[in-house]
Amino acid sequence: MESTVKDIIIEKAKSSKIEQVDFNNLPFGSVFTDHMMVCDYKDGAWQTPKIIPYQPLTLEPSARVFHYGQAVFEGMKAYKDDDGKVWLFRPDENFHRINKSSARMAMPEFPEDYFFDGLNTLLKMENDWIKPGLGNSLYIRPFAIATQAGIIASPSQEFKFLIICSPAQAYYGGEVRVKIAEKFSRAADGGFGFAKAAGNYAGQFYPTNLAKEEGFQQIVWTDAKSHEFIEEAGTMNIFVRMGDKLLTCPTGDRILDGVTRKSVIALAEEQGIEVDIRPIRVSELLEGHKNGELKEMFGSGTAAVINPILGFGYKGERYELPVMTDSYATRIKQQLINIQYNIAEDKFGWRYEV
Ligand code: COI
Repeated sequence: MESTVKDIIIEKAKSSKIEQVDFNNLPFGSVFTDHMMVCDYKDGAWQTPKIIPYQPLTLEPSARVFHYGQAVFEGMKAYKDDDGKVWLFRPDENFHRINKSSARMAMPEFPEDYFFDGLNTLLKMENDWIKPGLGNSLYIRPFAIATQAGIIASPSQEFKFLIICSPAQAYYGGEVRVKIAEKFSRAADGGFGFAKAAGNYAGQFYPTNLAKEEGFQQIVWTDAKSHEFIEEAGTMNIFVRMGDKLLTCPTGDRILDGVTRKSVIALAEEQGIEVDIRPIRVSELLEGHKNGELKEMFGSGTAAVINPILGFGYKGERYELPVMTDSYATRIKQQLINIQYNIAEDKFGWRYEV
């Protein structure tokens, strides 16, 4: 990507924190790079973006984001290949999705040139933080918050758009087993489940804590009307292998249109795997587990990549999934990683050089 950096104000950090970081021990999202991008919206316009040292924000306690959760975010990753080149994966998808989320939360859309020029410049400045090697990446968190002071429950007229970056390894350090929700839901028709809005994630924490107490790492949400159909998990879209077919539920009002999800669908189809995008009943999973048709489940997401699900719980019962020698999750993950790390040809044109 070519950058037109002339419009960005840059203030460099006096020194780097990088020497203090143990890159072999990185709990997800716990360490941040030296700089961040910040851009303010006021008087009806986005102001000049700035890249400044990573630092706390000063906000009015009455800022709308604290009271009404007017906030959206994205998750992206930068990968370094063995030649030291840095790549983004389908960044246009994240850019369009954050603006779709913003529109739903009555927030102004962010300009495309500010997003890409800012990101490109920031990543070039943070190049040393992006480590080569499969599994290493720089997790990028663009987000926007409502900053206007005043607790009247109406949309803010002032916002901040920021990009912060965190060197990352695996999101889930260990095995993942999920609880299928019996009572709680993540989203409803007409709501904003499709948006990467902060509140969608806060609302999941309580039921997820309960599931964790039972030994599960995540919840697979079921639909709000009947709780008979699975939807998505806390940080991932869900795939189910039934026989030789791969199933995933359709996105819409309630389910996040995951970038990794749509990439998995394309990669699976390219490998000749039949993908069925349709509502999936919990009863099908139980039946499939009983008759051996349920071969695999896995989650997909930027942070989680493709994460096998080893088992699930439902109504007090636990179900273990078989260990597959020819696992779709493994095959598709390999193909995905090969594109992300510039190891294989990128037939789909998903890779962007920074
Ligand atoms: C991502 O996968 O990038 C996400 O935004 C999920 C997040 C809650 C970790």
